[in-house]
Amino acid sequence: MFDNVTAYAGDPILSLNEDFQRDPRSDKVNLSIGIYFDDAGRLPVMAAVDEAERELVAQRRTRPYLPMAGIADYRAAVQELVFGADSAALREARIATLQTIGGSGALKVGSDFLKRYFPDSQVWISDPSWENHRVVFEGSGFQVNTYPYYDGATGGLRFEDMLKTVEGLPAESIVLLHACCHNPTGVDLSQAQWEAILPVLRARRLIAFVDMAYQGFGSDLEQDAFAVRALTDAGVTCLVANSFSKNFSLYGERCGALSVVCRSSEEATRVLGQLTCTVRANYSNPPTHGARIIARVLGDAALRSNWTAELAAMRGRIQVMRQAVHSGLEGHVAGRALSRYLDQRGMFTYTGLSPDQVDCLREVHGVYLLRSGRMCVAGLNQRNVGVVAAAIASVLKHTPANW
Ligand code: LMR
Repeated sequence: MFDNVTAYAGDPILSLNEDFQRDPRSDKVNLSIGIYFDDAGRLPVMAAVDEAERELVAQRRTRPYLPMAGIADYRAAVQELVFGADSAALREARIATLQTIGGSGALKVGSDFLKRYFPDSQVWISDPSWENHRVVFEGSGFQVNTYPYYDGATGGLRFEDMLKTVEGLPAESIVLLHACCHNPTGVDLSQAQWEAILPVLRARRLIAFVDMAYQGFGSDLEQDAFAVRALTDAGVTCLVANSFSKNFSLYGERCGALSVVCRSSEEATRVLGQLTCTVRANYSNPPTHGARIIARVLGDAALRSNWTAELAAMRGRIQVMRQAVHSGLEGHVAGRALSRYLDQRGMFTYTGLSPDQVDCLREVHGVYLLRSGRMCVAGLNQRNVGVVAAAIASVLKHTPANW
């Protein structure tokens, strides 16, 4: 029956991470997937998460089916974290938010919803973008195009070209934007650049779909939400997919949310109904455990303050690793190309290494990066950063750099 089923080529991130797990070398280094590891190379259990989980386990709560839209406390906590306690849209009950299965689930629910109501629209993602963006939107039946974004020569942003492309898009085009810590490049718009693009999105009646998977890893929880809040305040039609995988270190719990900013509370009620219907058609309702932990941490002042501090420490450690890899590469990499290790933000640096160089790093040195050249700086630590810098230097000695 399945003779004509073709083999899956694998996913550029998740399959590579699985390859890493199977690699028998004891000195291998995983800088492929977007996961924060601590300085001992371990996946941290955050103290506030641990405490909230212990409390929940002690309560021995039952696990009924959740409402299709998820846990009410969780949804309210998401809204406050993402849009800010003083958000006018929140006060006016204009935001429809539902719990989703991770950030990917939020993108999928949003994309299926948009396809139903904007079947002729096309999607525009940054060049480059997280590999799964294209997959999710094409999976919903959209044509996916790119807008200029990353400047390989400078390691910075092609903002003027991006703006010009967005200015030329037909009304109701869907523009996928990264709120902060752009994946895969680590290059973000400045606040002034966001302010320059907002009126264009509004005037051209474009639909902004913002992916915020790294809130807290750029500047801080508030500043990282700048774009989302500015879009909302500017009255741009906007969807926001957010994820707690990274900032709660709860990857496997698949906790995310989708929010849609509407023009009135009555519209938000209708939109929430249709999002809920999309959930029912896909997986009925979301799971309980991780969302209960997050709702507890965000709803308790002491736990929330501990969590915020621990997240700040994670962010700080990534900065230290950026400095360390930069120092390790000094003398091996031309100065201009090196500054990107310091300037790019969040978990990722777009190294400019070619697929062949990345293959060599993996095969010869056991250092795993994505073939796009994306390095997860959060996988570096005091023990492996010197080894990684030496491996990159060695690869560069044998193959010409492409910057
Ligand atoms: C990544 O970009 O590495 C992470 O977001 C994990 C994933 O699902 O791709």
